[in-house]
Amino acid sequence: SLVTFTQTAELRKEVSQLRRQGLTLALVPTMGNLHAGHLRLVEEARRHADKVLTTIFVNPLQFGPHEDFDNYPRTLEEDSEKLASAGCDYLFNPSVTEVYPEGQENQTRVQVPQVSEGLCGQKRPGHFDGVATVVSKLFNFVQPDVACFGQKDYQQLAVIQKMTRDLNFPIRIIGVPTQRATDGLALSSRNAYLTEAERRKAAGLYATLKSIGEKLAAGNTHFHELTHLARARLAELGFSPEYVEIRSLDLSPARIDAREWVLLAAARLGKARLIDNLVVRKG
Ligand code: PAJ
Repeated sequence: SLVTFTQTAELRKEVSQLRRQGLTLALVPTMGNLHAGHLRLVEEARRHADKVLTTIFVNPLQFGPHEDFDNYPRTLEEDSEKLASAGCDYLFNPSVTEVYPEGQENQTRVQVPQVSEGLCGQKRPGHFDGVATVVSKLFNFVQPDVACFGQKDYQQLAVIQKMTRDLNFPIRIIGVPTQRATDGLALSSRNAYLTEAERRKAAGLYATLKSIGEKLAAGNTHFHELTHLARARLAELGFSPEYVEIRSLDLSPARIDAREWVLLAAARLGKARLIDNLVVRKG
């Protein structure tokens, strides 16, 4: 059964008890409104540690002033049931003041330049500082042995990996493959913003990445042409494309002589901002 904490003091007590028993702990940070993608992270986490702790915290610091912090779906009861059935041991669900006791005076920010720049960092200034800051707080509260993050948020995973190395957190970061609906749409809490008609179109984002990915795998390395084509196709399908880029796996600029790349895209569809990515290997 799932044990829930809202206070860091209680959480720390339990964690040190686990440590005294010599048990290992895996962390799965989330903002709740859990779907099969999140539960896949829990399942992966169970393979790597004796106990799994999921956090649900909608982090104000990573939302821009015109983003959906207030409207972000909060579904704690259903989430707790899902976590219990998925075999999660602990839920940490702190209040904003528990995480930011200094309120506006909490001035320290964890910044991971370069990898945070461009892509989603371009349209969401300060977003990855907010993510890196809250994840380092969670790492301090929980002190896990491993932490699981989804490859769906490719740039976020890269930021966390770099932060973990740069700040010497003794934590293994595990990237978990993207879980998709049967039509290919990456599962996301924000899919709830789609109307029925938009939902039918939404799989076009992944379909577009796949068709461009096929050309890339077949040896077409005209990156600019490919991304241009992808944007045009997305616009045709009714998306407002924000970016489509081809990068190296570490998000440095793509090289023509490489054998693998990642294709990354963000596009608006109605009220939703969808992101997706695809790792492509030369065939
Ligand atoms: P959230 O969007 O709730 O996502 C929590 C974790 O689930 C992230 O690691 C994300 O990459 C992963 N995830 C989401 N959809 C997925 C899918 N379809 N397949 C696989 N994994 C998926 O990302 C955040 O929250 C926050 O930024 C957080 C890291 C918790 C910091 O506040």
